[in-house]
Amino acid sequence: MILHDKFGRQITDLRISITDRCNFRCVYCRSADPENYRDHDEILSWPELDRLARVFLSLGIRKIRITGGEPLVRDGVEDYLARLHALGVEDLSMTTNGHLLAERCDRLLASGLRRINISLDSLDPGKFERITRTKSFSTVMHSIDVAQKSRLAPAKVNAVLVRGINDDEVEAFALFARETGVIMRYIEFMPLDADRHWTHGLVVPAAEVHQRIHTRWPLMQIPHERSETARKYRFADGAPGEIGLIAPVTQPFCGHCSRIRLTADGKLRTCLFSKEDHDLRALLREGASDDDLVAYISSIVMEKEEGHHINEPGFVPPSRTMVFIGG
Ligand code: GTP
Ligand code: 5AD
Ligand code: SF4
Repeated sequence: MILHDKFGRQITDLRISITDRCNFRCVYCRSADPENYRDHDEILSWPELDRLARVFLSLGIRKIRITGGEPLVRDGVEDYLARLHALGVEDLSMTTNGHLLAERCDRLLASGLRRINISLDSLDPGKFERITRTKSFSTVMHSIDVAQKSRLAPAKVNAVLVRGINDDEVEAFALFARETGVIMRYIEFMPLDADRHWTHGLVVPAAEVHQRIHTRWPLMQIPHERSETARKYRFADGAPGEIGLIAPVTQPFCGHCSRIRLTADGKLRTCLFSKEDHDLRALLREGASDDDLVAYISSIVMEKEEGHHINEPGFVPPSRTMVFIGG
């Protein structure tokens, strides 16, 4: 059985947020003000996460990405990965801010992790500090280096571009890819920030990024899977590294979306921009059978949104921000 929606999209990718906590406060995601984290008993326990993973795999999910908050702040993530690996997940990946990665890299690999995406929004330590509101620049750079020297290479490095903050670093990031061999990904800022500062004017269009890099180092497009978020390029001069352009605002890729999300508190979200989410935790805790869960999940996925409405008048951002949705 393969999950699908009423638009005929097959849903094969699940992003599981295992915690709503994070040790960073990136400006495009969280607020500088303290947020209320969910209580521990509101977050799915590991046995609950195990059970849901089994149910989702029976529904044809093939790719699982572990996210947060910051996934590495929750104890037990390696053991969970190992259990997912044992269940036969073909593509097991994680998105992290990199702060705790260097010391955990070997254990993560041993647990079956195969791919890693690490956030890096500036190559300038001061600017990194202003964006993430931490002093972790050198720690994250070290983590990228460790990942890049491991079997997780090539690491994907994610930069969310915000006009006036880090859009002057487009070429510097590309040079970083050429020097290290990482896959450097430029992400358009989406209206999912806690402070609600997002405006169209803060978005740096992928076309501009492409043009700027291409002028300096000609790029050649390489094929991508239909459902992938990024358009991919290599350097025509044969230099190492790769460029990924993720353009959810100027070139939405919803038509080929294969993703659903499970939040740390056990809500199923069929779109980043869903107006509502669906309470799997309640079902689990009320004693639902696997068949009940399968029927419920299938019916919810059938109604997955056609796409987001960021570019339409009257767009209202979802009430949950990125740190609670999981990226
Ligand atoms: P892989 O290509 O499998 O490595 O994964 P990915 O690109 O989905 O992973 P990652 O967590 O690095 O996501 C990169 C960014 O793409 C996210 O931070 C979001 O900004 C954006 N993104 C991911 N999934 C979606 C999605 O379903 N919709 C939209 N609009 N943006 C997404
Ligand atoms: N717009 C685009 N991407 C975002 N991320 C977080 N907030 C936003 C936003 N408002 C991305 C981070 C990271 C992932 C967890 O989510 O860059 O790659
Ligand atoms: Fe999929 Fe929604 Fe993202 Fe579009 S905005 S790609 S439909 S999750």
